Amino acid sequence: MSTNHNGEFFYPSEELKSKLHVKNYDEIYQYAAEHPESFWSVIASELSWFKPWDKVLEWEYPFARWFVGGKTNIAYNALDRHVNTWRRNKLALIWEGENAEVRTYTYLQLQREVNRFANVLKAMGVQKGDRVSIYLPRIPEQMIAMLAAAKIGAIHTLVYAGFSVEALRDRINDAESKIVVTADGGFYNGKVVPLKNIVDEAVSKCPSIISVIVVKRTGADVDMTPGRDLWYHELMALPIASPKCDAEEMDATDPLFILYTSGTTGKPKGVVHSHGGYMVGTYITTKWVFDMKEEDTHWCTADSGWVTGHSYVVYGPLLNGATTVMYEGAPTYPLPDRWWSIVERHNVTIFYTAPTAIRSLMRYGSSWVNRRDLSTLRILGSVGEPINPEAWLWFYKIIGQERCPIMDTWWQTETGMHIITPLPCTPLKPGSASKPFPGIVVDVVDEEGESVKPGEEGFLVIKTPWPAMLQTVYKDPERYKQQYWSRFPGVYFAGDSAKKDEDGYIWIIGRVDDVIKVAGYRLGTAEIESALVSHPAVAEAAAIGKPDPLKGNIIKVFVILKFGYEPSEKLAQELKNHVGHELGPIAKPAEIQFVESLPKTRSGKIMRRVLRAQELGQPVGDLSTLEE
Ligand code: WT7
Repeated sequence: MSTNHNGEFFYPSEELKSKLHVKNYDEIYQYAAEHPESFWSVIASELSWFKPWDKVLEWEYPFARWFVGGKTNIAYNALDRHVNTWRRNKLALIWEGENAEVRTYTYLQLQREVNRFANVLKAMGVQKGDRVSIYLPRIPEQMIAMLAAAKIGAIHTLVYAGFSVEALRDRINDAESKIVVTADGGFYNGKVVPLKNIVDEAVSKCPSIISVIVVKRTGADVDMTPGRDLWYHELMALPIASPKCDAEEMDATDPLFILYTSGTTGKPKGVVHSHGGYMVGTYITTKWVFDMKEEDTHWCTADSGWVTGHSYVVYGPLLNGATTVMYEGAPTYPLPDRWWSIVERHNVTIFYTAPTAIRSLMRYGSSWVNRRDLSTLRILGSVGEPINPEAWLWFYKIIGQERCPIMDTWWQTETGMHIITPLPCTPLKPGSASKPFPGIVVDVVDEEGESVKPGEEGFLVIKTPWPAMLQTVYKDPERYKQQYWSRFPGVYFAGDSAKKDEDGYIWIIGRVDDVIKVAGYRLGTAEIESALVSHPAVAEAAAIGKPDPLKGNIIKVFVILKFGYEPSEKLAQELKNHVGHELGPIAKPAEIQFVESLPKTRSGKIMRRVLRAQELGQPVGDLSTLEE
C-alpha cells in the first residue's frame, strides 16, 4: 500500500479508504451542520434504549441536556447488548500485567465479573446516585469496578494511582464517596507501587467513607483496618456476588461519573458526565475516528484514571463491541520494545498514545521497533498535547510504516469525546489536529470573541453543545458557568490557544490559563503551590511550565522561604519530595529557585506569565497591573 506525500498533506491509501466507515468528511460534516438533531439522533439509535428520548437536546444555556426523557444504561450497552448476541464469546478485554501475566475476558466473562461486583456494591449499601471512588492501578478490576458502578446507577470517580495523599483526599471529600476501591499495589517499572498506605493516610480524614475494598495484586503486606477494610476476592466469593444483575434504567441525563481535573484555582473541578450523551459521543468518535470494526483490537495506552482511559480504553471500544487491550506497566520494562511486543503478540490494529511517550521511545531508536512485527496496525492516534512534526513523522514512518494514518485528537476531560480530529479519510498535516468532528462547531477568536484571520493566534472555542459535553462542575454550577462560558459569552472557552490555517486546519498551541501539561498530564499551578506552602519552610510559591523537548513542559517553582530558613540544595530536594508525597510523583517540580519576592498584581495575584517570560528570556508584555 502506498502513501502519497503531496506537498504538505499525507493521504490515506485508496485501499484503506475504500473500506472506511466514513469516506467523505465534508459531506457528513455538512449534513450534521444543517441537521444536528437528526444527525445525533440517528447515531443514538444505533445503541440500546429502555425508552426512547422525547427530545434530542434541551439547551438552556449554558446547560445542555441530551436525549431528554430517554432511558438507558451505558454498562448495558457496553456489555449486555453484546452478550445477547454471538459476541458473548468474543474477547472484550486482553490484559497484560507488567510481570508478563496475561488475563483475557470474553464479553460474557466480563459481564459476569461486573455483575458480581455490582451485587457486592449493592450489598454494601451503595445505591443509585452514590459515589464510588476508584484508586486502582491498570488492572482488570479498574474497568470492572467502573462498569459495576455504572450498572447499578452509582457514580464512579476515579483517581489516577499516580496521585498521592492530598490529591486523593480532596477528591474523595468533594465527591463524598461511600466506598473506595483500591489495591495492595501495582507493578510499574519493576517495582511495587504502594497504594493502600496512601489510601489509609487519605481516608483518615474522609468522613464519608464507610468501606475500603482492597484488590490483591502484588501480595505486599498491607494494614487492614477491621470493620472498614475488606478484600475484594473475599467479597467476590460470597453468595451475594451473583453473576446476574439487571442494569438500572437510568435517565439519559443522570450522572455516570465525576472526574476531577485541574483548573485555575487550587480546588480541582469535578467534571460531571452523563449516561446518555457521553455514551453516544464516545461510541461514535471511537467508531469513526479509529474506524473501529468488529475485528479490531484496540489499544489505548492511557490509564483509566484519566478521561482518555474512560472514553477510549473502557467505554468507546466496548460500546463498539471490539476488543480492548490494557497494559499495567511501563513502556520500557524490561526492555524498550515492550509496547511493540504487545502490539505484535496481541495483534493490535488500532494504537492510541501520547506524544510524550512517542518522543521518549523514539530516543531508543528504530531497531527496537523493527525487531517486532507491527503489520496488524491500521490506525494510529495521538492525544494530550501538541505533537511536534518530528515525533509525528517517526510515529508515521517507523510505527505505522507509512501505512497507518495518525489521528491527532484534540479534546479534554470536559469534552468527554474527541472534538477536533482527523478521520482516517482526512488528508493529514503533521502537527495539526485538523478539523472538528461532524456535528461540532469550533472557532479561533480574539480577545473580543471575533474570529481571527487565518494564521493568527487566538483562543479556541466551541460554539454549539455536543453530546458528551460536561453537564456541570460537581456541586458548583456557578463555577461551571464562570470557568467555561463567561470569557466569551455564548461559547465554550477551552483554555487553549490555537491557529487556523488557510485550509481550515486547526493548530493547537497550548494552554493560556494556569494549567501545566507535563508529559500530557494536566496539573494546576495552584495545586502545586498549595502543596509547597503546606511545608513549614515555605512562605510563598509560584509554579510555571517550562518547555521541555521530551515532556512538553516541566514544572519550575519559585519559592520564598519563611524567616529563619536558608536556601540549600538539601532543602530544595526536600521540597520536591514534599510535593511528590502530597500530590504524587507526576507533580514533582523539576526545578526550584529560591527568590526574595514574586511579581504580583496590585490585588496580590502572582503574575506567573511574567515569571515564565523572564525564565524563557521573552518580552514580559504588559506590566501595568504589576505592583511597585
Ligand atoms: C488539554 C486537556 C483529552 C485527552 C487527554 C487530556 C491538551 C489534548 C491535544 C492535542 C494539542 C492537546 C489541551 C487540552 N490537548 N489533546 N491533540 N493537541 N493539545 O485531557 O487532561 O483534560 O487535558 O490537553 O491543552 O486543553 P485533559
